[in-house]
Amino acid sequence: MTNPDPDAVRATFEGIAPRYDLANHLLSGGLDFLWRRRLIREAKASRPSEVLDLATGSGDVALALREALPAEVKVTGLDFCPPMLAEAERKRISVGCSRDSLRFVHGDCLSLDFPDSSFDLVTIAFGLRNLSNRVLGLSEMHRLLRPGGRLLILEFSQPFFILRPFYYLYLRGFLPLFARLVTGDRKAYEYLGSSISGFPDRFGLAEELRQANFGKVNFFSLTGAVVALHLGEKK
Ligand SMILES: C[S@@+](CC[C@H](N)C(=O)[O-])C[C@H]1O[C@@H](n2cnc3c(N)ncnc32)[C@H](O)[C@@H]1O
Repeated sequence: MTNPDPDAVRATFEGIAPRYDLANHLLSGGLDFLWRRRLIREAKASRPSEVLDLATGSGDVALALREALPAEVKVTGLDFCPPMLAEAERKRISVGCSRDSLRFVHGDCLSLDFPDSSFDLVTIAFGLRNLSNRVLGLSEMHRLLRPGGRLLILEFSQPFFILRPFYYLYLRGFLPLFARLVTGDRKAYEYLGSSISGFPDRFGLAEELRQANFGKVNFFSLTGAVVALHLGEKK
């Protein structure tokens, strides 16, 4: 798989923004709630004071972080797709959360407008796969973290061998068809399928984290490694 083209990625998410959440919940059979909950558990254990959620999209992770972490912890969600951010803002307002405690900002993960060592926790859920340059993205995440700060990556992975034939059949056959019914955009979900099958497995991604200078790299396989949660610490 070639590197994702950022303009095409943005256009894809612009097109599906209003139905992104519904499609997520239906297509994952509700498992996305459990996957994000696992991320939030690790985030809480990190006891951060300032958190950045990259590729925040419609804001579910940022909102869950806001709810789970003490009120004094500052949470920022960042994305480069305005309609996805508009969804996140709509949800922030609907749960009565102030902009001081949770802010959503426009930005690009590959060129982040924050000084070095700004955060002690950086999260990215289902976003890393979409970056056109993963090495640059990981190096930006490393730059923004304070020494001892943690990066948590929740991302699709390559499932255990026994599951692979069924899973790839699901990705290439059922997913685009069903997604068209929910979002009206079959192409977006063909992209999803190919971006998932072209992504490194959990060992490969752990190695990429080490190459990006992260220490204490670890991962957890979720749902037969359909999804993996990776952890890395800035030395
Ligand atoms: C699959 S969604 C994930 C949204 C959310 N994190 C979640 O868990 O549902 C991927 C998001 O990554 C964003 N994205 C992709 N590349 C980006 C980049 N270079 N900078 C900022 N956001 C990016 C897209 O706009 C989209 O909202």
